[in-house]
Amino acid sequence: MTGKLTNRRILVGVSGGIAAYKSAELVRRLIDLGAEVRVAMTKAAQEFITPLTLQALSGKPVSTDLLNTEAEAAMGHIELARWADLIVIAPASADIISRLAKGAGDDILTTICLARRCPLAIAPAMNQAMWHNSSTQENLATLQKHNIHQFGPDKGGQACGDIGFGRMSEPDALAQEVCKCFETRALEGKRVVITAGPTREAIDPVRYISNYSSGKMGYALAQAAAEAGAHTILISGPTALASPEHVKCINVVSAEEMQEACMNQVYESQSPCDIFIASAAVADYRPIEIAKQKIKKNDQDTMMLEMVKNPDIVATIASQANSPLVVGFAAETQNLIENAKSKLAKKQLDLVIANDVSKTDIGFNSDNNAVTIITKEAITEMAERSKSQVATDIIDYVATYLTKTN
Ligand code: PMT
Repeated sequence: MTGKLTNRRILVGVSGGIAAYKSAELVRRLIDLGAEVRVAMTKAAQEFITPLTLQALSGKPVSTDLLNTEAEAAMGHIELARWADLIVIAPASADIISRLAKGAGDDILTTICLARRCPLAIAPAMNQAMWHNSSTQENLATLQKHNIHQFGPDKGGQACGDIGFGRMSEPDALAQEVCKCFETRALEGKRVVITAGPTREAIDPVRYISNYSSGKMGYALAQAAAEAGAHTILISGPTALASPEHVKCINVVSAEEMQEACMNQVYESQSPCDIFIASAAVADYRPIEIAKQKIKKNDQDTMMLEMVKNPDIVATIASQANSPLVVGFAAETQNLIENAKSKLAKKQLDLVIANDVSKTDIGFNSDNNAVTIITKEAITEMAERSKSQVATDIIDYVATYLTKTN
């Protein structure tokens, strides 16, 4: 089962306030929606709720101390900042709001926020007089200027007996706000076809030729396209992944099957396709013949396998007169930009995503990626982040490109 937050990494920051008890429920809701959750707490937060509670709920160690060498060696503040797809501080006290507005980096939570590459959201929680104080309002305006999302607060009875604004929003509402952060709607009404994963080219009934593609990049792109409002079709080679929510997944095995499914979905469907994204690692060659029976070992030390070229799916799609916007990938182990540019031209692509696959921490079968988007006009580098984040940025880029060129 996948949820709205499947594959999303959420860092929940907890600052000191009576509403800290609600952050335990928030962690549970986010996990129920499929997210991987980690928690970072300020010192004051630990006066209200124990790290142990949040560790038990998240299933991960809780970060409480910037200067703890052991914890920093395990997953330090910089790694945590890079790991997160979204940071949500709930509750966000008047104090942490003030420190964030000043750009402070004086504890684990503020340093993670300073080092982040992902969006940040705050769920303010404080007494109504503190909320209305002009300093708090100025600090909130500063955070808004820096594109920091604000969830709530709600109005109502407060722990101190006052009534007014400043109650932290309920965990359910906060979890829904978190989901909305990933829904850009930039491709509302568009139809997007995406290939993902490897292909398998059979040698005999029990053997095949394939590659290390896990499908993670393509599935993340499909999830991001669906979150952007697109009617999304994922054509996937064999992977161990579950189809993202609101995505129609067509499973194929070989390059020829993938080609047939792509042509059907792009050109033979009743609704036109607006964008085709080829992230699959399609085998360039397949054995010329598939042995009917299992090939037996013989006395020879070597064996020859005769191969024939597979159809180039993305080039075939791009070569048609009425082609959609075509985005290809270029998986390269050397001369990344040069080789990617040559694929852009040779395969008549609109955009190519250059992917350095010589490293083990990005590219094939990794959780992170770093890519360069190349068009005829521009080269845009995207720093290393989770494949989900990279996918969201690629989809945003492609949506903007489509609008500009239409
Ligand atoms: O699946 P993961 O483990 O997450 O890894 C992601 C990835 C590294 C596979 C992905 O990010 C990536 O780089 N995909 C492209 C892999 C590839 O085969 O690249 P290529 O440079 O060989 O091919 C260039 C383009 O032509 C690609 O868009 C490919 O899908 C397409 N192609 C290639 C051969 C073929 N017969 N038909 C095609 O459509």
